[in-house]
Amino acid sequence: MLNIVLFGPPGAGKGTQSQHIVEKFKLIHLSTGDLLRSEIAAGTPLGQEAKLLMDDGKLVPDEVVIGMIDNKLKANKDAKGFIFDGFPRTTEQAKALDDLLKSNDDSISGMIALEVPDEELISRLLERGKDSGRADDQNEEVIKNRLKVYNDQTAVLKDYYSKQGKFQEINGLGTIEEVFGRIENAIEKA
Ligand code: AP5
Ligand code: MG
Repeated sequence: MLNIVLFGPPGAGKGTQSQHIVEKFKLIHLSTGDLLRSEIAAGTPLGQEAKLLMDDGKLVPDEVVIGMIDNKLKANKDAKGFIFDGFPRTTEQAKALDDLLKSNDDSISGMIALEVPDEELISRLLERGKDSGRADDQNEEVIKNRLKVYNDQTAVLKDYYSKQGKFQEINGLGTIEEVFGRIENAIEKA
């Protein structure tokens, strides 16, 4: 199986690029952010709890997102592979993902990290906030908090995958097609 962690800070282009990857490589896209927003839209208790944290740009508890990923992996046993977008975000989540995949004799093929400077991330997210309906895109303070959470709790995962020889960093600036070309190259090497 081809299991790719598409990594990067908020606004790096993970969701955008995942759509192209799914089309070309026929993988299943698992975005914990999208899954949580579906729970919010459905008005579930989980969604209501998560919304309070997401609107402030804070992470939801590890066990919540790990449980969601566990369900999706079990529901897609025949998949050719997965593209993980916005997950894992903590060392705890990365370890849990390794364990879940291992129980199916599987593993992560590689992590691809999109590198984009903070000024560009802020400008992309504020622009999207004008019509995305995402509360966390509409306020520069919340966006800056999301970047801080990424730097404090998530960026450490580059080392986690680097130690396993699974880390590739690519430039996330340029057109969507240019960035996708770099991702394709990285996937061939994963
Ligand atoms: P999540 O939904 O994962 O959001 P995020 O990581 O903050 O980032 P985005 O989805 O905003 O950015 P992206 O990298 O997908 O970029 P996109 O392609 O959209 O998480 C939201 C919240 O949910 C978290 O804050 C947390 O509370 C919670 N959560 C989720 N997962 C969790 C987990 N595992 N653990 C705990 N909590 C979790 O692009 C952004 C914009 O840029 C778009 O408008 C796009 O059109 C534009 N764009 C894309 N590519 C380019 C380009 N090349 N040039 C110019 N513009 C571009
Ligand atoms: Mg996204």
